[in-house]
Amino acid sequence: MSIDSSVDIEVRQIKTGSNPTRYARGWHCVGLAKTFRDGKPHQVKIFGTDLVVFEDSRNELKILDAFCRHMGGNLARGEIKDGNIACPFHDWRWGGDGRCKDVPYARRVPKIARTRTWITLERNGILFVWNDPQGNPPPADVTIPEIEGYGTDRWTEWTWNTFLVEGSNCREIVDNVVDMAHFFYVHFQMPQFFKNVFEGHVASQHMRSTGRDDIKTGVQLDLPDSETISDASYHGPSFMLDTVYTVSGDIAVETKLINCHYPITQDSFLLQYGTIVERVKGVPAEESDAMATMFTEGVETQFKQDVEIWKHKSRIENPLLTEEDGPVYQLRRWYNQFYVDIEDVTPDMTRRFEFEVDTTRALENWQVEVEENLAAE
Ligand code: FES
Ligand SMILES: [Fe+2]
Repeated sequence: MSIDSSVDIEVRQIKTGSNPTRYARGWHCVGLAKTFRDGKPHQVKIFGTDLVVFEDSRNELKILDAFCRHMGGNLARGEIKDGNIACPFHDWRWGGDGRCKDVPYARRVPKIARTRTWITLERNGILFVWNDPQGNPPPADVTIPEIEGYGTDRWTEWTWNTFLVEGSNCREIVDNVVDMAHFFYVHFQMPQFFKNVFEGHVASQHMRSTGRDDIKTGVQLDLPDSETISDASYHGPSFMLDTVYTVSGDIAVETKLINCHYPITQDSFLLQYGTIVERVKGVPAEESDAMATMFTEGVETQFKQDVEIWKHKSRIENPLLTEEDGPVYQLRRWYNQFYVDIEDVTPDMTRRFEFEVDTTRALENWQVEVEENLAAE
């Protein structure tokens, strides 16, 4: 389509807006649970503050504010003693319930010695922390789904990685949910089918894609002529669980992919991603494990591609869109529910919304571009 240059159109201005002033209400994945079960306290920089994660005497993972209410010592530099966390400064012992259990050198523990605890959830081998600026516990229906058969022979173990992103607010990654066209240009995939559904606290992306023949990145499993069927859902503001089928001829490999993040500050976040692959009957375990590793490496490639864009782009409140761009504004309206008080969540933020992008025109043009590139090689 061409544009008549004789028509005088006003220059479009970018509205950059500003980062939010609070952190999203919701479950945030802190990492694989087993990494916190080594008998040591772990510091986690998250939500603009510092927390400490440790395993108590009942093998439960607990999360407290990192800084000791006595004189500000860093509990993450302390030790676990009898299931409590001992501050490295004067050895005050803090329980997972936030109460000070003992001050070994003092006759009495001050009655008011209580620190902040954070609500945790362990699901599918992953540890989550609940954040709510209003201090409410999670509603019963706001949870993380269980992966059927997790922890059995059906799946490989998690292959897990993290990636620090600095200089960007985490909304950038959430925008990806609706961004059909960037899959071709940034991730070298051809989305054949692309649909979004938002409802309640869940936002989904359903995509069927093939690889580009002119650029190979190892993003997809190395199966000939494979097609990828991906059903991905954000459960809350930061945790995406994606069921991916890689189909090649008679073979279909099922993978669960996690793509999640937590904000460190409003200007930095920690991306985390992991995969488990279904062990196929007749395929040796090592082969499934190798596939999980390969898949995770592919995901890492994708994130690096996104990060390269984020590093150099502007925050934008008023994207200028075509029909093929997907429902960016509707997605952001859904996302905003996590940044307002629960009483201020409006029906338009949570009501069901569906949109399928018509990929016909895009695919026609992309096919031509790919063929031209191949011919020029
Ligand atoms: S600062 Fe923690 S025990 Fe004194
Ligand atoms: Fe992306």
